[in-house]
Amino acid sequence: MALVAFTLSTTAGADEALAQKSGCFACHRVDSKLVGPAFKEVAAKYRGDAGALDRLTAKVKGGSKRGEPLVWGTMAMPPSPAPEADVRKVVEWVLTLQ
Ligand code: HEC
Repeated sequence: MALVAFTLSTTAGADEALAQKSGCFACHRVDSKLVGPAFKEVAAKYRGDAGALDRLTAKVKGGSKRGEPLVWGTMAMPPSPAPEADVRKVVEWVLTLQ
């Protein structure tokens, strides 16, 4: 179990760097709301939701859809210019936060 925790935390470091590189921290923080919701709140909202990784990857990559109600009530998220594979990795990391 300790080994698993260690592996997860080192992976998180790499994914956090990828989030940085992908520009996510321009609008997000791990612990607090900025322009977008705190990543920890996102993780809490979708905990146990098996389809969340696919849906959120598509949303971050494509941006909020016109006419779609805002989930977090602040503003829409613009489409991400980061490669989809990177976005998916970052979303995967976001969903592991607690
Ligand atoms: C220009 C600002 C901005 C950038 C850059 C940005 N986001 Fe967001 N993000 C937002 C906003 C605003 C929301 C809330 C949208 C809503 O209420 O529907 C959001 C929502 C989210 C959500 C939750 C979506 C939902 O439907 O619950 C995730 C996950 C997310 N962002 C991940 C990312 C990732 C990963 C990146 C980097 C690749 C990123 N964001 C870059 C502004 C941004």
